Parts: sequence; C-alpha cells; structure tokens
Amino acid sequence: MKKWIRGGTVVTAADTYQADVLVEGEKVVAIGNDLQVGQAEVIDATGLYLLPGGIDPHTHLAMPFGGTVTSDDFFTGTKAAAFGGTTTIVDFCLTQKGQSLQEAIATWHEKANGKAVVDYGFHLMIADANDQVLEELATVIDQEGITSLKVFMAYKNVLMADDETLFKTLIRAKELGALVQVHAENGDVIDYLTNKALREGNTDPIYHAYTRPPEAEGEATGRAIALTALADAQLYVVHVSCADAVRRIAEAREKGWNIYGETCPQYLVLDITDLDRPDFEGAKYVWSPPLREKWHQDVLWSALKNGILQTVGSDHCPFNFSGQKELGRGNFTKIPNGGPIIEDRLTLLYSEGVRQGKISLNQFVDISSTKVAKLFGMFPQKGTIAVGSDADIVLFDPAAERTISAKTHHMNVDYNPFEGMQVHGEVVSVLSRGAFVVREKEFVGQAGNGRYLKRATFARP
Ligand code: URP
Ligand code: ZN
Ligand code: ZN
Repeated sequence: MKKWIRGGTVVTAADTYQADVLVEGEKVVAIGNDLQVGQAEVIDATGLYLLPGGIDPHTHLAMPFGGTVTSDDFFTGTKAAAFGGTTTIVDFCLTQKGQSLQEAIATWHEKANGKAVVDYGFHLMIADANDQVLEELATVIDQEGITSLKVFMAYKNVLMADDETLFKTLIRAKELGALVQVHAENGDVIDYLTNKALREGNTDPIYHAYTRPPEAEGEATGRAIALTALADAQLYVVHVSCADAVRRIAEAREKGWNIYGETCPQYLVLDITDLDRPDFEGAKYVWSPPLREKWHQDVLWSALKNGILQTVGSDHCPFNFSGQKELGRGNFTKIPNGGPIIEDRLTLLYSEGVRQGKISLNQFVDISSTKVAKLFGMFPQKGTIAVGSDADIVLFDPAAERTISAKTHHMNVDYNPFEGMQVHGEVVSVLSRGAFVVREKEFVGQAGNGRYLKRATFARP
C-alpha cells in the first residue's frame, strides 16, 4: 500500500515548502500538492516538518574500548537512533595490526547482522598501512563499499598510528577514491602529560581535559592537513572540539584543499566545567578530545554556519556510569572515553542551533543528513527528500517541548549527559525505506530490517 503523507512542510538542505509526499515501496515517488494518488494509506503531517532521515556519520556500537564494551549494540543503538530521527548510521569497524581487513569487517558484519533497525555502513580503521593492507583496500572499497578510512593520531599504545601510516593511507586513498578520517590529537604529547599528572597524584576526571589541551588537537589537525596536501588527497577531521582545530581547517579550505570537519553536540552544548562535577559525576563527561572552555562553542557554531565544518556526528560511544565509567575511580585514564548521544543529536542541533538562530533550518538538515550523505557516498539515495530517493522520512514537531532524561531515552545506558535539559522539537514518526520504525512515538520497527549500505567513492561535494 502506498503512503500519502499529507499536510506537512518538506525541509531539505535547499528548500522549505508545503507539499504532500507519496511513498511507494521503499522510495519517494511523488512530491506536490495535487498528487494523483489512487489507493493509499493517508498519514497526517499537519503542523510537522518532513525531514530527510538523519545520517549519523560517527557511531561506536558494541565496540571494545577502554577495557570494556560500549553498552549499545546494533539493535539498541539503531533503535535509539530511530527514536531520535536518525535513519542511517556509519559505524567504525576497528582493526588490529597484523589482522586482515576482511576478517575485521566480517566481525563487524556479525555484530550488525539481524540486529539493526535502520540502515548502516562501516568506516574502516587503518592500524598499520603495510603492503597487504594497502593491497586489500582495493577489494574492500570495491566489494564492501567501505569508502572511508580512519586513522587515530591519539590513544598511544592502543589505537594510535604513526605519521607514516597516515601518509601511506592518504596516498592509497587518493588512488582509490576513499575519504580519510582522523582522530586528531597529538598522542605522544598527551601520553607525556597524562603520566606527569598521575605521578603528581592528579587523578580526578578533570585531569582528562587538562592533559589533552586544545593545542594538542590543533597541532595534530594541522599535521594531518599538511600530510593530506602533500598526498593531494582528501581528509575529514572527526569530532572537532576547539578553535585551534577550526582555524587549521579554515586555512586549508581557503586554499581550496579537500579538507572537511565534523563536530558533535557535546562540544556545542557542554563544557569543561562538567568534568568537575562532584561524586565522580565528571566521568560522565569524559570524551576525547575533551570538553573545552565555553567560548569554543561560539567558534564551532559559526564554523558550522559558515561551512568551515560540514557535519555534526554523535560520536555515540556509550558506557554505563555504574560498572563502566566507574572503572576510572582514582585514575582518570581508566575512565572509558565517550558518551551516549545517538538519540539526542537532531533535537540538540535543532533546539540549540535553529531555535537560537545559530544555524538555519536548511543548514540543520544539511549538517545532520545531506552533507553527510554527499561526503560519504550515499547521496542522493540518502540525505534528501526527492523523487527516487529512499523514503527515509522524519515527521518532526518543531513546536513540541520536552525534557531530556535517562528515564525516557531509549539508549541502553544508565545516564544521559543532557539530563534535565529542556529542548524544543520532537520526533513523532520515522520511516526507513518506506516502513515505519517509529510511529506516533512508539517503536514499530524490527531487528534485521536495517540494511548494510555499500557506499560510493569520494566525490567533492
Ligand atoms: O571519547 C571518545 N571520542 N570516544 C569514542 C572513540 C573516539 O575517539 O572517537
Ligand atoms: Zn576519536
Ligand atoms: Zn568516535
């Protein structure tokens, strides 16, 4: 049966207009005001925005990290994503030195198979750019459609790769048309500062931030950009948190280089003082890079507005406070880094960004969906509401107000970093490829309905 979504306001990255949307099977088949529809189920969208499903370019589901495993798997994580208006995620597939890429990818497919309720793709970590890995990349890109590669410049002795690895990855990515992503922080400097803090008896969560200063992020961002320019390749800097990194990205983009940047809701809304909360609550606010002084937020918002940064990802990396974050009592280096954001990414961006005049409604769609689809080889199948595109549609009530709370969220984690925050805007219903996943705020999706996405190679958006 066709679905005729009536009376809503279509919002894309380019336009805002009143129109009905007709969905047949998995696709949008018509948009307009005088549609010849025939038999169809009518869905009333009066007073609601029709947004293209959000695309989260940065998630870590069921990922081993910091001596534990993230608390959302591909079922709970994608279900929470759907409740928050996200219909596609791209998750990070970790690899280990000496392991074949195909083996690592198979492990990630096992995690997701039969569990995801919305569509998903993978980015691939490059731990070691040896000859076998560089050779294998051609197959990975061609057969798996994994067209984005991640190099960690931090987490020394765990995930960190050296400059040679990054440079070789960039050169190969240029040949094969992949987008290279970096976690840009200077891991050696952080290692030194961390050891010094511990030696001096400074073990509280706030020292996580003090030992990862903005200069360490700025330096690594600049270095990754310089290597990208040398390789004539393309780079996407994940989770940009500070002015120092924004400045490097802005300068590179002014030169016309293919440099892109993502920030996250936590850096736009929270700040370093949260790490100082009493009773070890600061552990809930441990991310890498860390939360910064508040003034950085204005720099990040204007970078989004001016196109210096193109996307907002969640960096969803949830750990329970009880039993997981608590691993770091008495030693901040043992606090697993990351937090639960997948469900609140869109609302926070709408409420704090659009409602407060920091970004436009169309920029909101661009940053949370369209630009992500373009950068990561999913457009126009994903990332817009257009005839022929997947019917990934969010019915969003801009007038609703609600309070964020762990008591009502759907993420499998025992706290919410935005607990008690009043926000405007609420996801009412969500269609993924034409089928409801959330209907009138009730979950109606099914584990396994989410499909693996093979993505196209990089094309400059
Ligand atoms: O603290 C963070 N960001 N945790 C997730 C892993 C990463 O570095 O993206
Ligand atoms: Zn990272
Ligand atoms: Zn991450």
